Amino acid sequence: MIGDKKVLYSGMQATGNLTLGNYLGALKNWVTLNEEYECFYGVMDLHSLTVRQNAAEFRKRARSLYTLYVAAGLNPETNCIYFQSHVSAHAELAWLLNCFTYMGELNRMTQFKDKSAKHADNINAGLFTYPVLMAADILLYQADVVPVGVDQMQHLEITRDIAERFNHIYGDVFTIPEGYIGKSGAKIMSLQEPTKKMSKSDENANASIYLLDDTDTIIRKFKRAVTDSGSEIRYAEDKPGICNLMDIYTATTGKTKEEIEKEFDGKGYGEFKMAVGEAVVSVLKPLQDRMAELEKDKSYIDRMIKENDEKAQYFANKTLRKVQKKLGLTERIR
Ligand code: TRP
Repeated sequence: MIGDKKVLYSGMQATGNLTLGNYLGALKNWVTLNEEYECFYGVMDLHSLTVRQNAAEFRKRARSLYTLYVAAGLNPETNCIYFQSHVSAHAELAWLLNCFTYMGELNRMTQFKDKSAKHADNINAGLFTYPVLMAADILLYQADVVPVGVDQMQHLEITRDIAERFNHIYGDVFTIPEGYIGKSGAKIMSLQEPTKKMSKSDENANASIYLLDDTDTIIRKFKRAVTDSGSEIRYAEDKPGICNLMDIYTATTGKTKEEIEKEFDGKGYGEFKMAVGEAVVSVLKPLQDRMAELEKDKSYIDRMIKENDEKAQYFANKTLRKVQKKLGLTERIR
């Protein structure tokens, strides 16, 4: 708790360009959580280093992710939006928690298995201990709730296990976090393989709508979206392509499945795809305009980074000092 509010923690890696899936599934819903929770959102740049990055591009991308958070509507004066690498307590606590995490547990992580298969030439120790750093992120802020997608649930589970193990030995040091599955967190699928999640690391650029895609690109990608056999606009299990487009249309217009089926009764896939494309443009355009504006106002973003780094450091260090003390590390002389 901070004041009378529960603490919420989440973040995204500064890898790849954010997609419509990241926006409709996560970011858009985060905006509404600030009323109820004290919110912390990290730009997870340390996690990104588990994969080789080009330094110049990486620097730009991390800053752009920060700005996108703001452009998407997260107010940086009430949400603590900060860079993970600016708060050294993350790396420090991760080390300490490494000593409370078992090889066997980490070996079971499905994301580690997937990523090592994908980057067979760079299976580094950071990739292996990735979940421990994530546990440190969450536990440093004594988070009560963590909104994450299903693919991150296993990481949240191990976070809870590590925290419980630590608390069992040293008393109530860490708050045990719960997953938070947003009410309307739509799961958006690939436009090319609608049984697969839309991903920022998809090699096929037509599979994903990137938040900064221009209007023509968005419309073109929707026109090319893979649909199913048949011609009806109907929400049915054997129509994953149409279901995905309907989900996107619902998330961008607020219309229900029944309303959509009625609206497009007797009309073809082509017309429906155009409508979905236009609905997406009308949601992303204001975000992009705001992004362009913020990118011009360097000093505002700089000031927000500085203030929020300090705020994050304050809360993180408080937890870190407590952990160090419990472990018997020699106290600093002041
Ligand atoms: N692993 C998360 C992802 O790839 C990003 C992340 C890192 C995160 N640390 C976190 C998410 C802490 C929530 C809380 O999506």
